[in-house]
Amino acid sequence: MIDKKILYHIFSSFVMFVALSSCSRDKADMDKFVSELMGRMTLEEKIGQLNLQVAGDIVTGDAQDTAVLSEIEAGNMGGIFNLKGVGKIRELQEVAVNKSRMGIPLLVGMDVIHGYETIFPIPLALSCSWDSAAVEEVARISAKEASADGINWVFSPMVDVALDARWGRVAEGSGEDPLVNSIMGRAMVRGYQGDLSRNDNVMSCVKHFALYGAVEAGRDYNTVDMSRLRMYEQYFPPYKACVEAGAGSVMSSFNLVGGIPATANQWLLNDVLRNEWKFDGFVVTDYASINEMMAHRVARNKKDASCRALLAGTDMDMCSRGYIETLKELIREGEVTEDDIDVACRRILEAKYKLGLFDNPFKYCDTTRRQTDIYTKEHRERARAIATETFVLLKNENSLLPLKKKGRIALIGPLADTRSNMTGMWTVAAASERSLSLKEGMEKALEGKAKLLYAQGCNLMADSVAQADAEFGKHIKRVNSASAGLEALRVARESDVIVCAMGECAEMTGESSSRSDLSLPDEQMSLLKELAKLGKPIVLLNFSGRATVMTWESEHIPAIMNVWFGGSEMADAVSDVLFGSVSPSGKLTVSMPRNVGQLPLYYNHLSTGRPVEDGEKKFRKYASNYLDVRNDALYPFGYGLSYTNFEYYDFIASKNVLNSREDSLIVSVRVANEGNMNASEVVQLYVSADCFAFARPKKELCKFARVEIPAGEERNVEFILTGEDFCFYSNQGVYGYNKTYNAGTYKVMVGPNSAELSSVQIELR
Ligand code: BGC
Repeated sequence: MIDKKILYHIFSSFVMFVALSSCSRDKADMDKFVSELMGRMTLEEKIGQLNLQVAGDIVTGDAQDTAVLSEIEAGNMGGIFNLKGVGKIRELQEVAVNKSRMGIPLLVGMDVIHGYETIFPIPLALSCSWDSAAVEEVARISAKEASADGINWVFSPMVDVALDARWGRVAEGSGEDPLVNSIMGRAMVRGYQGDLSRNDNVMSCVKHFALYGAVEAGRDYNTVDMSRLRMYEQYFPPYKACVEAGAGSVMSSFNLVGGIPATANQWLLNDVLRNEWKFDGFVVTDYASINEMMAHRVARNKKDASCRALLAGTDMDMCSRGYIETLKELIREGEVTEDDIDVACRRILEAKYKLGLFDNPFKYCDTTRRQTDIYTKEHRERARAIATETFVLLKNENSLLPLKKKGRIALIGPLADTRSNMTGMWTVAAASERSLSLKEGMEKALEGKAKLLYAQGCNLMADSVAQADAEFGKHIKRVNSASAGLEALRVARESDVIVCAMGECAEMTGESSSRSDLSLPDEQMSLLKELAKLGKPIVLLNFSGRATVMTWESEHIPAIMNVWFGGSEMADAVSDVLFGSVSPSGKLTVSMPRNVGQLPLYYNHLSTGRPVEDGEKKFRKYASNYLDVRNDALYPFGYGLSYTNFEYYDFIASKNVLNSREDSLIVSVRVANEGNMNASEVVQLYVSADCFAFARPKKELCKFARVEIPAGEERNVEFILTGEDFCFYSNQGVYGYNKTYNAGTYKVMVGPNSAELSSVQIELR
């Protein structure tokens, strides 16, 4: 009798063979189609495909005279982006298909970052759910909504590992850990792209390749400089994971990589991305990156910059007009060849082919889908439920939370009654004003049960000009701070408990929103201190798109929950958790610093020659520490409380020796929910290597599992580890570094966060 396992292998090899041969057949069909098409294109038309522009403000039915239309008609445009409305998009697509000589349909892109009209929590918050299935669903729903409105290409996921919370774009990624970014990025690519033969999936664009999250001093668009080893270890894995998941396109980053702008970086785009990782999609620049090469002072003019970008492997020019204006001349001068242009053009046409645009250019222009597929009840319910998974409970003295729906509850703070600031940054397609404010959500939740007393209490920040810069259009009412403060104190005195909705406004993170001070802005901090003096129970709901500094708060405020920006259903989701219909289960994917001077701060750092232990409180002369602050985080990576209490028991490894890359062992731990509420726990497994020629981090996240455990029950959580899980980049390869298997001593650690771990030793032979 044949073993079931063998049968399974024969069957899966057969399926793989069929899939591969149909894949190569598809590829052959695509090659033939694109070659035939390109054979009929003029040089100008090929260059036109490399040009991507914002569509501008187009009024439906009125598009004929706009500049963009004549460019499309002339065959000078490969795609447009950030235009909302299927009607308008259809009009442009009709011109491309029916009026341009070659009739090639357009790519239609958009920054769909955490939802389309139904908005989900910002990506950083989503990562704090540690729920990759939910993240995949977010991308799936976003794709469905966007494609119903004419979009076929989204500029997401962003997987830039970010260690410095001063950088505003921390909000757009999955925090400081390469594995979390990899898993979430992969889930998003899968969710967006799924099966591209359908009309409700879209092509994803992984960004920003590469290292954008490492801008010096957290200042946006700043310089990056790092060793290749560090790139491979800490920054590259998420981009690679997305490429392996089949991402159709990649966006280059604004920054330098090894002294050369990413957009003109041969090594990065051709050697690493294409030759080493086998990426077979197309590369688009970030907004006007080709032009910015002059400001970087690495190109003399647009022609020079365009030449370098094309030769480095950048296929599509976003908004610089460098390719469209200079490539012909560059060919005449012999700097680039028509073959170079063919390579880029082919990749863009292949993307259109993969999207099915040549079979049906109006595949994404079904004007009837808006009614059934966008901002639906079902999508909004999912957005609400997923948002509840992202809030991170940081402190809950004497189980102040959940609050009871009774008595008088004060709601105070500049984030309490603003609709437009609930959704967070990058919501191009959303009508943010449609979301309920927190006050409206809480009033609904408390109706007939408790009284909600509200006072704004203060301004977002004292300086009205600074506030306007930070708001970026999502306005929060200005108040007279003296009288508003008194009003807040009065309301607080009349109440049994105070809920403060404070922190950043939505646009204080995201692009061009770097900050040098990560504390609660001035007026808010003063008000919070006044409220604390009343001696009443206070819950701080911290709105933020980054790690913030809450050292004073952690000492004086009994309950703190980070609510980030929770999307269009945030108000209901916060109410669900605040009043205990759902227990919080989010855990930090960024370390929360004690002060801004600690940045960059991250748990998986290397050891110094003069280390101090995490948790060491006293200054030590000639050790690697500060005179005025401890080294470790205030709230560490992976940290987050629940309304229930989880205990970890019986942590065991099935064996302590691995003999090869393929050899495996099972690590298991029993996790018991010892409280009286059903809840989810994120169980984390870290590894560390003992001593090798290359320095290794003290710990690195290797696996995690989010498990639902009903009250009073326990679960046995198992992780399979292979020799591969212990491999690290240490060996110089053809392009950069290779991962190698290194015999030696390792530790495997399991626990509820990066600072509370039990460990076992494993020997690799
Ligand atoms: C951002 C990208 C974005 C692009 C298009 C740029 O400024 O860096 O993330 O996709 O604009 O809007």
